[in-house]
Amino acid sequence: MSDEPEIERLRACGVVPVVVIDDAHVAVPLARALLAGGIDVIEVTLRRPAALNALETIAREVPEILAVAGTVVTPAQVADVQQAGAQAVVSPGFSEAVDDAMRAAGLPWLPGVATASDCMRAVSTGRLTCKFFPAEQAGGTATLKALSGPFPQLRFCPTGGVSLGNLADYLALKQVICVGGSWLVPADAIANRDWARVTQLAREASEKVAIIRG
Ligand code: 3PG
Repeated sequence: MSDEPEIERLRACGVVPVVVIDDAHVAVPLARALLAGGIDVIEVTLRRPAALNALETIAREVPEILAVAGTVVTPAQVADVQQAGAQAVVSPGFSEAVDDAMRAAGLPWLPGVATASDCMRAVSTGRLTCKFFPAEQAGGTATLKALSGPFPQLRFCPTGGVSLGNLADYLALKQVICVGGSWLVPADAIANRDWARVTQLAREASEKVAIIRG
């Protein structure tokens, strides 16, 4: 288990909004809308040209939220997100090149795992907190429980097909520190600048986490 403070922030929040940002101007109101709903972490995915600007803007202007970079798949992107101020990095899978770059960057990294072979690589390189991706498509909680047999030291952030409807199933597992998902920040809510809706979705999720954790 990692004791990095950023990982503890993810665990404490319980839910990581996975966001796709097309226009960096939405970054600050979006981050503030999440905070207003009780979610103080955000994963900005590198899936659009605006992502690095968005990440940099959030890191600079909304320091209350943990700025996480997602969909990081190359060493060059590691350098880019570190420069932008990312405080942690998430990848959909594992590569030696990104592992090396992350070690050099000195930031927490959650590589993606979905199979026992992936888990063996994560354990052998000391990456003990992983994204379980794509969670539902890879078999959901049943697969997670099975993987935890041989790999009890791994902790997971299941992402992919997670929603308000099934997050309790994941968070009930002791090996799950948090879940990730895009449901908190729908594309149409961003397009319409509907920050009240984002806050409402964040509040529903954060309240559910609080209830689950008692
Ligand atoms: C991710 O990259 O983490 C996933 O695309 C998020 O999956 P979801 O859209 O099913 O939440």
